[in-house]
Amino acid sequence: MEFKTKILTDNQSDIKYAAELIKSDEIVGMPTETVYGLAADATNVDAVKKIFIAKGRPQDNPLIVHICDINDLGIYVHDIPDIAIKLAEKFWPGPLTMILPKNDIIPNETSAGLDTVGIRFPSHIVAQKLIRESGTALAAPSANLSGSPSPTTAMHVFDDMNGRIPAILDGGKCSVGVESTVISFENETIRVLRPGYISVEDFKKITPNVITDKGILNRVDNSEIIRSPGMKYKHYSPKANVIIVDADIDAFSSYIKNHMGDGVYGLVFDNDKEKCPFPCLTFGNSSEEHAKQIFDKLREFDKIGAKTVYAHSPRKDGVGLAVYNRLLRAAGFEVIVL
Ligand code: TXA
Ligand code: MG
Repeated sequence: MEFKTKILTDNQSDIKYAAELIKSDEIVGMPTETVYGLAADATNVDAVKKIFIAKGRPQDNPLIVHICDINDLGIYVHDIPDIAIKLAEKFWPGPLTMILPKNDIIPNETSAGLDTVGIRFPSHIVAQKLIRESGTALAAPSANLSGSPSPTTAMHVFDDMNGRIPAILDGGKCSVGVESTVISFENETIRVLRPGYISVEDFKKITPNVITDKGILNRVDNSEIIRSPGMKYKHYSPKANVIIVDADIDAFSSYIKNHMGDGVYGLVFDNDKEKCPFPCLTFGNSSEEHAKQIFDKLREFDKIGAKTVYAHSPRKDGVGLAVYNRLLRAAGFEVIVL
């Protein structure tokens, strides 16, 4: 039977209530600084299974485990390279996930059968309070239905999860807007598997040994080594057909004018709006603004019934690489270069 998912506030008694749900094997929508997550006790097989069901997530896609104290790292993972400690000290709490060899306390259901687990210490105060109050690490993938754009407000989570989960903690709009940077280690070398707010350039300030995985900008096929299962799946897709157009704004604008039709929209920078005399949504001017707005805009295109979206290509450096990576996946890697 359909039930209505409760929206909880971020006050202490609501956080306590959410923690009680977690302690009784339930899952809860949790705000983080990146995107909202679907949180459950990472050490509890029954609870973790519910996450996969609520999202419709493929069983072979592992979950990220969230902690609220850097000193808890050793409870969940082992063989931590020195560089990982250095990064944790610099970027935690914050939008960085590190893949490390898992301890037995993390069940195979959480790690999808891998012997590693992604671990992160979020900076959102409500996430920290929920983890602390629950007394355990929380496994949490993004709180969207599998394949849909990640949620950056409690309402986005409600739209996808109403009737599927008991409650969502409303912690406001996510400040970063794209998911955490995911990295793995090869000895002391960092491999970036998913770009995020903590950028390749940020890592290079700390060590020259940084590899950007090919899967960030290219479709991975089954003949290649897939270092992160999430790379295999089409992601972040609105119902519309998204196409990235890599061009200056004048070329972009005349291309769209020539391809106008029913349900065709542009996605452009705020400053370029007046050069684009056709239906458009805008997503800010800086890469940080793009990151904050990208998923909300992809969801809005669904609401207004867009059929085709031509997105003006964002920058590919800094956090721009994360925005470009998400758009690329929404577009099924379709890019027109003019
Ligand atoms: O910002 C975030 O990371 C959000 C918030 C809620 O913390 N969470 C999130 O989780 O984005 P999810 O499940 O939507 O994405 C996790 C990504 C997937 O692409 C998954 O394949 C990869 O991380 N991943 C997780 N564990 C891994 C592992 N052991 N090895 C390789 N990749 C892993
Ligand atoms: Mg996700």
